[in-house]
Amino acid sequence: ALVSLRQLLDYAAEHSFAVPAFNISNMEQVQAIMRAADACDSPVIMQGSAGANRYAGEVFLRHLILAAVEQYPHIPVVMHRDHAPSPDICAQAIQSGFSSVMMDGSLLEDMKTPASFAYNVEVTRTVVNMAHACGVSVEGEIGCLGSLENQPDADHSRLLTDPDEAVEFVKHTNIDALAVAIGTSHGAYKFSKPPTGEVLVISRLQTLQQRLPDMHFVMHGSSSVPQDWLQVINEYGGEIPQTYGVPVAEIVEGIKYGVRKVNIDTDLRMASTGAIRRFVAQPEHAAELDARKIYQAARDAMQTLCQARYEAFGSAGHA
Ligand code: G3H
Ligand code: 13P
Ligand code: NA
Ligand code: ZN
Repeated sequence: ALVSLRQLLDYAAEHSFAVPAFNISNMEQVQAIMRAADACDSPVIMQGSAGANRYAGEVFLRHLILAAVEQYPHIPVVMHRDHAPSPDICAQAIQSGFSSVMMDGSLLEDMKTPASFAYNVEVTRTVVNMAHACGVSVEGEIGCLGSLENQPDADHSRLLTDPDEAVEFVKHTNIDALAVAIGTSHGAYKFSKPPTGEVLVISRLQTLQQRLPDMHFVMHGSSSVPQDWLQVINEYGGEIPQTYGVPVAEIVEGIKYGVRKVNIDTDLRMASTGAIRRFVAQPEHAAELDARKIYQAARDAMQTLCQARYEAFGSAGHA
């Protein structure tokens, strides 16, 4: 059944687990996410980005998620709009049936320029008023995502969520979940070496939870950049530079401090790219023309990865 983010995260908080929120762009991803959830009895969050809308179209994305809801009626599913740049885009998602939206007011509508606190409060509060009237949940963000590696100390204040600001933001907006900046960034190139507490500041979550004990925190840029998939991609013709993500163990630490939604896109991209490169490179597949076999290799790889995240974050067994 389609559920709101708030319903799911309140339940997750009661039971001290987090739910991976997977970005989707195509049917194979949706099926991998759902098959894994079905296998380990986990609730699901699927989210569409602007890039996914450009690739698949909002109508296809929405109906892929609705197909999942119909096929797996026993699994709670949140349909979430990731990083909406404006209240208008949120209104569109609400109107078309999404059960949750992220108003990303940490940046201006260009999604590049850091926004003022006042702007962020204003647009986020507008969205909350609209969304709550329709039973839809809202995720807001305070602080800008970005790597702390090689940043002058002065920039740390922008790249780490400030606890005082977070408290004010929650008070003025009445959001359901808060995305925090703790040194993670989107994409595969987060850290040039395995991250320490200097650049991946999990301790900030502890401080935030002390100040906001009832808030649900969201970790963006939470792909772990699996080294085994990196190797597979490079073994079969890829040229991906050495890079590191957010270790699963660090996310599990964050879950102790109120992290309830964990955004993952890159890891599914890596698993599918690696699986496809490996599959087509096999001599016994050289004459294969049934592209479904290729997609299936990707789907199986993504399913394994999804199940590992459901189990690690504790959502398994809670559908
Ligand atoms: O928000 C970040 C996600 O990884 C979305 O990326 O816009 O390329 O789909 P995308
Ligand atoms: P990754 O690039 O680490 O997978 O993060 C995805 C994300 O935060 C989407 O909002
Ligand atoms: Na989001
Ligand atoms: Zn994000």
